[in-house]
Amino acid sequence: MNPALPTAPAPFHLCGIAGSLRSASFNRALLRAAQETAPAHLTIAVFDLAPLPPYDADLEAAGAPEAVAALQRAIRRADALLIATPEYNYGIPGVLKNALDWASRPPRDSALAGKPTAIMGASPGFGGTARAQAMLRMVLAGTHTPALLGPEVYVAHANDKFDDAGRLTDEPTREHLRKFLLAFEEWALGQGKR
Ligand code: FNR
Repeated sequence: MNPALPTAPAPFHLCGIAGSLRSASFNRALLRAAQETAPAHLTIAVFDLAPLPPYDADLEAAGAPEAVAALQRAIRRADALLIATPEYNYGIPGVLKNALDWASRPPRDSALAGKPTAIMGASPGFGGTARAQAMLRMVLAGTHTPALLGPEVYVAHANDKFDDAGRLTDEPTREHLRKFLLAFEEWALGQGKR
């Protein structure tokens, strides 16, 4: 190989989850915007949380349901995890907490333990999910999941930033998202060297 030639960046693969089930969700749309703005080598496969049952230790003892095993596999196989959270009553939605609880099992060898993770969120309100993200950081501490401290992504006034088809049309936010993903990749690759 000619060392003078620039080398293409190695593929970097993210598992993306959104803490909302609704089809017109801003947070699902934010994940789609991340897919659109990411450089070609950085791919994001979105995992749908809808099929997950509520966490039940009896269900777990009987063998993880297929949807749970699929979530755990998707996180394990990914280089890193990207979470888009709505804010419900100043916290994260039950759908997301439930998914993280399933993914945190078994506690000492879970898919979340040590998995580099970044958080973003969108809300029609002025806070842009800041309080939910603070709660999510606390939950990720409990699951031993290292979380990117910055840059942060708080998409406030989401109604004005997405069009009716769910496309993020706000150019400064798209540019911020692109820089955030590159910073996340750089940080996540560094985590592996610790
Ligand atoms: C909300 N919403 C909301 N927004 C916010 O900024 N802070 C909050 O504390 C809450 N609380 C809250 C509670 C419940 C039960 C619901 C249903 C909604 C509004 C919320 O941000 C809005 O519905 C978003 O559109 C939800 O995210 P998705 O579904 O668009 O991704």
